Amino acid sequence: MLRIGIITDIQYADADQIGKRNYRGGIAKFLEAVGALEEAGVDAIFNLGDSLDHDWESLTAISELFQSIRIPFYNVLGNHDYMIPDEKKSEINRYLLMPNEKGYYSIVMTDPENGSEWLFVFLNGNEISLYAARNDEERVAAQKVREKYPLEDGTLSCDWNGAMSPAQLAWLDRELRDAESKGQRVIVCNHFPLFCQGGPYSVADSVPLAKILPVYFGKLGFSLWNADELLEVLDRYPKLIKGYWAGHLHEGSYGERDGVPHVTFRGIVETEPNAWAVMEIQGDSVAAHL
Ligand SMILES: [Fe+2]
Repeated sequence: MLRIGIITDIQYADADQIGKRNYRGGIAKFLEAVGALEEAGVDAIFNLGDSLDHDWESLTAISELFQSIRIPFYNVLGNHDYMIPDEKKSEINRYLLMPNEKGYYSIVMTDPENGSEWLFVFLNGNEISLYAARNDEERVAAQKVREKYPLEDGTLSCDWNGAMSPAQLAWLDRELRDAESKGQRVIVCNHFPLFCQGGPYSVADSVPLAKILPVYFGKLGFSLWNADELLEVLDRYPKLIKGYWAGHLHEGSYGERDGVPHVTFRGIVETEPNAWAVMEIQGDSVAAHL
């Protein structure tokens, strides 16, 4: 069995609460969640993005905490992680423990009981976006991409989301093909959810169109600008992918699309008293303990 601890959307900042968003409480809640996951004996912790909010000081504070974690810890980049000055954006990946400049990567973990290999892919949905752009030239280019992917009602995609580049989509396709040839099973992690059916959480309050199920978040502005292109890649490997895990939508969501469970985990910043999950992977099945 493999046990993966999940946290997401800490959005720590030394700032007063706005609505349900408890920014300052992020550090205490993060430490509580990590402590509970360590006690549960997880093999690794995945953090699905939006670790900070507001400013550069939030990034350095949360980064220091990340470096103190004793068990394997893997991060995904989220939109709020870029709430720092343009000239500092090239440093985000280092502070948020990305293994490379691109901000997307994969790892393989082996189930000690049966030797089966699991490929965990960590995507970067911020690659082309207005907020990750480091200068006006990049912002103009990102805006052009944004205009290619209007929402269901014909309006522009939201500026708090971004797109994966063709290069990243091609990399993902290669990763999945390679995993298939090696007989691995795959979990795809991304900050942005793609799909919801309702399930244990309801998004109907915040997303009027969620009444028409199933919901593709990309069409509603809660996901990647080019969510359809990512789904198209994932659809090439229906039997291979055992889960799509995301954050971003703080109330969480669940959906099953062509046999692939799409889980959106609750965000720490807006969940009281706290939010974390343990995903238990055994044989071919993945069970969630939320
Ligand atoms: Fe987010």
